[in-house]
Amino acid sequence: MCGIVGYIGNKDPVPILLKGLKRLEYRGYDSSGIALLQENNLTHIKKAGKVSDLQLLVDDSSIKGTCGIAHTRWATHGIPNDVNAHPHFDHTGKIALVHNGIFENYETIKKVLVKKDVHFSSTTDTEVIVQLISELYYNNDEKLTFEDAVRAALQEVVGAYGIVALCADEPNKIIAARMGSPLVLGVGEKEYFLASDASPIIEHTRNVIYLDDDEFVIIDKAGYSISNIKSKKIISKSLTKIDLTIEEVEKGEFPHFMLKEIHDQKHSISDTMRGRLNLDNGTTNLGGIINYIPNILSASRIYITACGTSWHAGLIGKHLIEEYARVPVHVEYASEFRYRNAIIDANTIVIAISQSGETADTLAALKIAKEFGAITLGICNVVGSSISRETDAGIFTHAGPEIGVASTKAFTAQVTVLIMIALNIGRKKGVSKDRGKELIRALKTIDQDVAIILKNIKNIKKVAQYTATAENYLYLGRGINFPVALEGALKLKEISYIHAEGYPAAEMKHGPIALIDENLPVVFIAPQDDTFNKVLSNIEEVKARGGIIITVTDNVNNSIKSLSDFVLTLPKTHKYVFPITCSIILQMLAYELAVCRKCEIDQPRNLAKSVTVE
Ligand code: G6P
Repeated sequence: MCGIVGYIGNKDPVPILLKGLKRLEYRGYDSSGIALLQENNLTHIKKAGKVSDLQLLVDDSSIKGTCGIAHTRWATHGIPNDVNAHPHFDHTGKIALVHNGIFENYETIKKVLVKKDVHFSSTTDTEVIVQLISELYYNNDEKLTFEDAVRAALQEVVGAYGIVALCADEPNKIIAARMGSPLVLGVGEKEYFLASDASPIIEHTRNVIYLDDDEFVIIDKAGYSISNIKSKKIISKSLTKIDLTIEEVEKGEFPHFMLKEIHDQKHSISDTMRGRLNLDNGTTNLGGIINYIPNILSASRIYITACGTSWHAGLIGKHLIEEYARVPVHVEYASEFRYRNAIIDANTIVIAISQSGETADTLAALKIAKEFGAITLGICNVVGSSISRETDAGIFTHAGPEIGVASTKAFTAQVTVLIMIALNIGRKKGVSKDRGKELIRALKTIDQDVAIILKNIKNIKKVAQYTATAENYLYLGRGINFPVALEGALKLKEISYIHAEGYPAAEMKHGPIALIDENLPVVFIAPQDDTFNKVLSNIEEVKARGGIIITVTDNVNNSIKSLSDFVLTLPKTHKYVFPITCSIILQMLAYELAVCRKCEIDQPRNLAKSVTVE
């Protein structure tokens, strides 16, 4: 949610900053801007719209500098327009600042500043901090340095932030700080980078430092220093080598990141399982959480907390863990969990699931769980992310960078990790080796299954073309496939703007059945398991009312063929691997529908990939 880039070094900052913004555009794309410092001269360009709109203006300008900051925005306070775009400036025009997060007490501070005749030009919360820094720097008997003015201002704000700032009166210096919003420092040869994640940095240096909350960075000719915001105590942090490749953050031959990431699933699920399957013993090796397995075995309950797609993975995880491990699991939206008085104690395990590892609500829920003494485990995709560092232990999904806003390969990787956890605990609680082996064998053939699905997309395209003008879509599934229905519906909403609902197939009779007519496409998830005949009856009910029936199944029989308008066939697999293969076909369906409707697939309206505000 909002992307920040900063550069100081011997190169021209403009292309570095703009390319960096493009890499971070998944975090927000309603406006963007750049500010450059050349000796005592601060210049800037900002613009509502995509980074490409900013690029056109920059290309037409002669803007230059020796260091600079840039930002791509996802609006929280103030509509997306040129004025509200970052960087923001103080009233002297000598201080520039970019911000990711929310200053919750901005109105209070603004009132005080307005009384002092400070004139505000935007309606953002961010402008408040830059004006406050200016007050402390320029209108203060104490004659603070720029660094001290920034430190002092940060102590007055409440909320979450990653900020990077420049001052024309102290050139060749960048100041940054983090509290709640991610910030990475890249350390090159006499050049330094700051960014919301490592993707803008990788082609310049592999050496990074992940900043933690309360940390303050000063970069100038002498190099960089990291200290505590308040106490100024120097913090020594070691460099981390990033192993991300440029190919992983570019879409290559694919028209969209989402399509690339759907195709990545031909290997990403295996990447998640690499070194973790033990066929001989019908179990899994989970080094990341090994020390906490006894706690899980004796836990009174498990909470899984997450947002969005990750929450759907959690619902599938509940089914699996309760089935194999027989421990009660409650799945909670992090935004709800953090504010309710849940029963959490030292016998509770809290599993936070997050692709980015930065979602503000999930992080906050985790912190609360820790305060109540729970053991906290993480399932994250981004190594070094806040959630992965905040948890007692965890398992990385290793799905590779996910850039398309609609989550695809991260979801299937999360489900894979949950399968592995459920089986691991289950085996220790009496699930037979043979049952374990059966599941592992199915997991081991997943690459082939995914390749088959992605080769046969003719039918998916047909469904998309036939239903492209639909206003609503219904997804129905039972048992472990009810969350798959929810996720299928979410994918469609996110990228095609068709209203879609996921429902337990039998529950449809208690409401959604009223919506069924010849214009409503209904996706039935019909795996060959003990729910199959029940789902068949539900299909009959929709057929009788004229709905358009799209059946996704690994069991095409005559009844399915005669009842369905379209059948999307999946390779036969284990009933607990089916949610993965089925999700992939539903991802493709959402993608093809969005293509037919000419939607902005990688940057859907109003969404952001990483939601670092409440
Ligand atoms: C946003 C994204 C979703 C994602 C959710 C949770 O809403 O658009 O794709 O599922 O955040 O993100 P996380 O990184 O915590 O999994």
